[in-house]
Amino acid sequence: MNTPSPLALVPFVSVANMMRLVHHIGLEEMLRELADYIEEDFRRWEQFDKTPRVASHSAEGVIELMPTADGELYGFKYVNGHPSNTRTGRQTVTAFGLLAEVSTGYPVLLSEMTLLTALRTAAMSAVAARALAPRGATTMAMIGNGAQSEFQSLAMKALLGIDQIRLWDIDADAMAKCARNLAGHGLRVTPCSSAEEAIEGAQIITTCTADKQYATILTDNMVGAGVHINAIGGDCPGKTELAPVILNRASIFVEYPEQTRIEGEIQQLAPDHPVTELWSVLSGASVGRRAASEITLFDSVGFAIEDFSALRFVRARLRETGLYDSLDLLADPDDPRDLFGMLQRARAPND
Ligand SMILES: NC(=O)c1ccc[n+]([C@@H]2O[C@H](COP(=O)([O-])OP(=O)(O)OC[C@H]3O[C@@H](n4cnc5c(N)ncnc54)[C@H](O)[C@@H]3O)[C@@H](O)[C@H]2O)c1
Repeated sequence: MNTPSPLALVPFVSVANMMRLVHHIGLEEMLRELADYIEEDFRRWEQFDKTPRVASHSAEGVIELMPTADGELYGFKYVNGHPSNTRTGRQTVTAFGLLAEVSTGYPVLLSEMTLLTALRTAAMSAVAARALAPRGATTMAMIGNGAQSEFQSLAMKALLGIDQIRLWDIDADAMAKCARNLAGHGLRVTPCSSAEEAIEGAQIITTCTADKQYATILTDNMVGAGVHINAIGGDCPGKTELAPVILNRASIFVEYPEQTRIEGEIQQLAPDHPVTELWSVLSGASVGRRAASEITLFDSVGFAIEDFSALRFVRARLRETGLYDSLDLLADPDDPRDLFGMLQRARAPND
């Protein structure tokens, strides 16, 4: 068999190499750098092709494709969300993604994105909180202590200087795991005995639970004036975390309204309920927090541009780190129109 030609090869970042990349750069530094890439892309929002993600729902969960392009590069992510997966030793969310050159359509990067999604979601949360949370915030309540939770906590430390995390999960093992993992990272971590206890003294409340139904993680009386809510877990039709009355008291910031109105907390509101697009706050076109007493809500669902930014970041670090394999992904016949001839020549004499 001939060895693949250079045009056949696409850099592939495996889970093992992604973990090496994170440790090579340093987790908090990587979260800061991912945040910079996301901010850069959000500030040029109008250059991107945008569409709500394409979702395939089942009784157990959802499988989604998330495409976008900026004229130069095209990217997409495959991602699932299956809340009952953890019962069979699988994760709720797994993902991989690809970047391609718009000019030729040739892929330039294929990457694991389960870790990268946790990192980019955390970086996105911190970008939003940096723009919206009350100044001088020191304490975050982390409700839902699953796969995303440590990343969320460390991004708030890396970008906002949060130094206290108050944990709550209905599963004591998840809470213990999160507390254990966050030990030694320069945070004061307090496991709590209820969501109410966790939010005591917190200026930022992150909800990151997984349940395929309308859940009420926060009720109206739990949310005081001036807090910032970072709502991560409500990200599918029929899957929300906040009592609707909280939404009516909050200034709501979203990624891409066309997608968030289908998937986010605001699916509980009228389709014309006012929301502010986060990109316009980051670009300076809209105002973020207006008053110390205001409740701000980032109704996060995860948008394709964040994955595009994350893939762009990974691609920029490939050459310097060498942390990738070359994957024989694209058939590359000597004569581009002789795909069949290439197949025939590959036949072993005894086939
Ligand atoms: N917005 C985004 O960009 C984005 C990105 C990734 C994941 N998510 C969503 O975030 C959620 C969490 O993801 P994960 O990977 O951490 O899932 P996970 O299954 O690993 O963790 C979820 C945790 O929530 C806990 N939980 C469930 N109901 C609860 C309740 N009522 N109160 C307190 N805790 C509760 C569970 O015990 C579990 O520990 C999922 O719904 C996922 O779809 C959103």
